[in-house]
Amino acid sequence: MKSFTKTSTSRVLTPEELDRLNDERCLVSEFKRAKLEREAQKNWDLFYKRNTTNFFKDRYWTTREFDELRTCRKLESQRLVLLEAGCGVGNCIFPLLEDDLNIFVYACDFSPRAVEFVKYNPLYSPERCSAFQCDLTEDDLRENVPENSVDVVTLIFVLSAVHPDKMKLVLQNISRVLKPGGIVLFRDYGLYDHAMLRFKAGSKLGENFYVRQDGTRSYFFSKEFLALLFEEANLQSVANDYVLRETVNKKEGLCVPRVFLQSKFTKPSQPQSS
Ligand SMILES: C[S@@+](CC[C@H](N)C(=O)[O-])C[C@H]1O[C@@H](n2cnc3c(N)ncnc32)[C@H](O)[C@@H]1O
Repeated sequence: MKSFTKTSTSRVLTPEELDRLNDERCLVSEFKRAKLEREAQKNWDLFYKRNTTNFFKDRYWTTREFDELRTCRKLESQRLVLLEAGCGVGNCIFPLLEDDLNIFVYACDFSPRAVEFVKYNPLYSPERCSAFQCDLTEDDLRENVPENSVDVVTLIFVLSAVHPDKMKLVLQNISRVLKPGGIVLFRDYGLYDHAMLRFKAGSKLGENFYVRQDGTRSYFFSKEFLALLFEEANLQSVANDYVLRETVNKKEGLCVPRVFLQSKFTKPSQPQSS
């Protein structure tokens, strides 16, 4: 059984790891950063062209980690409405659809290929699911999802793929379709995750923000940064903790420290005065 620790403090780096991070001070050029931003959608779509549905594993842990997925109904018979924002090929939603028959899922992604893979999945049916293409930083979700209608939004390893300057736009967008009292369930890369320390020189785009070989990008969240981001979008913190896990990298024969940030935020029932 895999073991993990939940903690409110970030991972402490060794002196060697600190040196490594400090060596990466030089940023990718402004020209290349702007190009990566313009081509973000294309790069994710090419990712799915190369990897089809074979890259991410199905996420069977969501109901264990987020008991709201079972408990947040007011009546047992209530049909839960969920939005999986940045759904990829559906590794998060299909285990939920298999597990819980009384759920309706909206699922969106800005890769048209990913959305097609979702629609081709044998578990997809229009009575239980509505998948659509959209850029969460630009396209108003209300074109596909009624305002104030969603009980739960899941943001699973998605916000890290968005430029930090545009993350607030994503949160404002999902907040419009979330019911007052509804909840956002978040899990993503945490500060000093092994993946962050593995980036080679020439991959750094900004503070805690890196580009992979394939042009997709990843941000590594501190809990303070995330809390502020949600606060600015008028979403209130319910939980916000690092999850630390040692996993074995079989290829390299190494035990590696993984850090994720796992959090919950709610939309206040009463509008907040600013
Ligand atoms: C690491 S994958 C996670 C997919 C899925 N949530 C899961 O748990 O398997 C990140 C996804 O975010 C999508 N994405 C990135 N930026 C986006 C944006 N601005 N609007 C919509 N989707 C976006 C990518 O296309 C990609 O499918």
